[in-house]
Amino acid sequence: AVERTFSMIKPDATRRNLTGAITKMFEDAGFSVIASKRVWMSRREAEGFYAVHKERPFFGELVESMCSGPTIVQVLQGENAIARNREIMGATNPSDAAEGTIRKAFALSIGENSVHGSDAPETASQEIAYWFSETEIVG
Ligand code: CMP
Repeated sequence: AVERTFSMIKPDATRRNLTGAITKMFEDAGFSVIASKRVWMSRREAEGFYAVHKERPFFGELVESMCSGPTIVQVLQGENAIARNREIMGATNPSDAAEGTIRKAFALSIGENSVHGSDAPETASQEIAYWFSETEIVG
C-alpha cells in the first residue's frame, strides 16, 4: 500500500551540504517528497520529539546534536514507505549499515548518523503531526 513516513536529514548532514544528495537517494528509490522544511530545533522540540529515549544514556548527547544546527524535516510518500525508508537509510550504527545505504555513505557515527526515519505506522503518524500541519503536506 502507499504509505507516508517521516524523515529527517540531521545537522551532521546539513552541515556537510548533503541535503540534496540524501533527498536524491530517496527520490531515486521512488519516494515523493510531499512536505519539506528546514528547522533549527529548540532543546524543548528535540526533547519532545525524542521523548521515547529520555531514560537512555545517550539522550543528552542526542538532544545536543539535534540542536547543533539545521535539520530538514520531510514527509516521504511511496509504496511500503515506512519499511523501505528504513532499508534505504541502513542500520542505526553506520558500522553495521549495508553497502549502498545512506548511513553507509554518509554517517559519521551512531550519534551523527545523518538521517532519521519512523519505525512503524503509529510513530510515522505521530512524527509527521509533530512537525507538520495538514495544509503543509501536499500529496
Ligand atoms: P534515530 O533513528 O534518530 O533514533 C535515535 C537516535 O539516537 C539514533 O538515530 C542515533 O542517532 C542516536 N544514538 C546515539 N547514541 C546511540 C546509541 N548508543 N544507541 C542508539 N542510538 C543512539
